[in-house]
Amino acid sequence: MSPLVPKRDDLASLDGYHSPQVAAEVRLNTNESPLPPPAAWPEAFASEIARVEANRYPDRGAVALRSALAELHGVDPAEVFCANGSNEVLQCLLLAFGGAGRVVATFEPTYALHAFIARLTGTPVVSGSRNERFEVELDVVRALMAEHRPVITFLCSPNNPTGNADPIELTEHVIAEAPGLVVVDEAYGQFAPASATRFRGRPGAEGLVVVRTFSKTWALAAARLGYLLADPAVVEACDSVALPYHLSAYTQAAGLAALEFQAEMEERVALVSEERGRVATALGELDIETWPSDANFILFRPLTHPAAVVWQGLVDRSILIRDVSGRPELADCLRVTIGTAAENDRFLCALEECLR
Ligand SMILES: Cc1ncc(COP(=O)(O)O)c(C=O)c1O
Repeated sequence: MSPLVPKRDDLASLDGYHSPQVAAEVRLNTNESPLPPPAAWPEAFASEIARVEANRYPDRGAVALRSALAELHGVDPAEVFCANGSNEVLQCLLLAFGGAGRVVATFEPTYALHAFIARLTGTPVVSGSRNERFEVELDVVRALMAEHRPVITFLCSPNNPTGNADPIELTEHVIAEAPGLVVVDEAYGQFAPASATRFRGRPGAEGLVVVRTFSKTWALAAARLGYLLADPAVVEACDSVALPYHLSAYTQAAGLAALEFQAEMEERVALVSEERGRVATALGELDIETWPSDANFILFRPLTHPAAVVWQGLVDRSILIRDVSGRPELADCLRVTIGTAAENDRFLCALEECLR
């Protein structure tokens, strides 16, 4: 017998999570901030890391960072958990609350990592479908909750890859009626008209978990930092499954330094939102179906050419966007991240050529 041990049986059918890293001059495929952090951030970061004792393990409780985030959101530090990107936050939630015999619910198409990480942690996933406008419908949520009693019901607002935010009334109903936790992934929350954070602390909303990231509007995708806001019992459960010292002192320092630049972050959101409007209008003038977006990306479907052909045509012009057409609900759809004005111009011009 070969000494090579096969992968776990339940992972055999699970494809790795791939976002092709093709070399391209214009990268509009992973929804990062098109702009670097504010000019003064490197200095603030340098002064934070000057305090780091590199020979010592980092602060395991990330106390300073949690306190700063708690202040930002007007909650108690005991209601904040931080990890290496919101993906690790999600993984900790699933390690703590998922597992065999417990079910989580998603509404597809949505962020693929909710179901993917669930499966990695051996958690069965049940999925409801969004309607043709990619909205989550309360009846579908109710039916799924009644049948499966999920320990976690995932919402994603604004939703990746479709771009739409959930109406806040829907979020409120789901929180009130869910039999377990409601995890609202707000990776793009700063672009949305409303946030589920408003329900934190309300009676009946004890199971609400809001997940956020520094990878998008905070322009810190390289740092890998995300967090959640939840009841202290949820935070404690996440702490108990995270590896000791999982969050490096440098990551904590990056986040702390970023929080000094709230105003600049908001300016960036305004700028990207304005560009999004311009790109959406330009797409509307082409033979393309588009969906309204509350995020920093737009989902669209070329009507005259297969998505794969358009995607390759753009790559040939050194522009990388995301081909999401492999997902059953997203046939022939592509997703473009909003870039700088110059990047968006290059994308629009190249797209027009590809559709000619
Ligand atoms: C909806 C959503 N949640 C979470 C993430 C993960 O972000 P990170 O792990 O970089 O914080 C992403 C990244 O694209 C996302 O789109």
